[in-house]
Amino acid sequence: MPIRDNTIEDFQVCNNLTALHFLQEFNGKNRKNLWTIININAEPLLLELFNHKYFAVPRLIGYCGRAVIEQHSGNPLNSIENFDWYKRAKVAKQLLKAAEQFTFGHAKFRLYLTDISPDNIAISDDLVVTFVDLGHGILIDKSSAILVISGSHYTEPFNDDEYGFSRQEVCGSAISDHNVYAVCKLLLSVTAPWPMMRNGLLHSPPPELNAKDLFEHIEQCVYTTEKVSRFKLCAKIQQILDDIVVQVL
Ligand SMILES: Nc1ncnc2c1ncn2[C@@H]1O[C@H](COP(=O)(O)OP(=O)(O)O)[C@@H](O)[C@H]1O
Ligand SMILES: [Mg+2]
Repeated sequence: MPIRDNTIEDFQVCNNLTALHFLQEFNGKNRKNLWTIININAEPLLLELFNHKYFAVPRLIGYCGRAVIEQHSGNPLNSIENFDWYKRAKVAKQLLKAAEQFTFGHAKFRLYLTDISPDNIAISDDLVVTFVDLGHGILIDKSSAILVISGSHYTEPFNDDEYGFSRQEVCGSAISDHNVYAVCKLLLSVTAPWPMMRNGLLHSPPPELNAKDLFEHIEQCVYTTEKVSRFKLCAKIQQILDDIVVQVL
């Protein structure tokens, strides 16, 4: 079953091996239905593959044609703009964790989200983060690493409001830091562009907080040109956030 141009609306698979393995995951489904779903909206298939028990995605209830029924996961990220800083710190930690999980957490695939925005992230009343729009993404089979250049892809930073990525580069490496870069750049940084809240999710830290280290690491995650590993920075930022949040519990 060929997938034309490796493209399913805004959802893309990196190569034929990924397409083949993706389809094999749904062997139990009727082939005609599968073909229709893939061409109309691949999101429910991704929600099956990246199950809500392990990934920050909504619980899938069912789907038919264009309609997808899923758990309501809360309000858009910007609805917590004026929440207590420590609550926003807890959310920031989950955003980074989720970026790691989509990159490393599945046994067979990596999913790179290509439409990360505050509207596509829901926050529940108890501050659980869910990525609600998986319709835009790039899927790569981990075993494709043998077909592409090994090593990890470093996303070249853009200045200020500009943001972009190259599908060829993301697909051309065994691992890309795309998800981590996107979370740092589009959501956490003080320079996070519209439609993110002004000065990023961690705006207006409390005066008693000594978080110079935290903000430096976040900006390094966005702007570093020294090709330091954004995965290491991501782990470090999470650790700093954990330490800060633990102190106020
Ligand atoms: N599971 C969900 N829980 C809470 N809000 C959701 C959920 N799914 C979608 N939304 C809300 O609906 C909006 C549109 O849904 P989305 O899947 O992003 O569609 P589109 O492809 O039109 O962007 C989202 O921006 C989000 O605010
Ligand atoms: Mg959306």
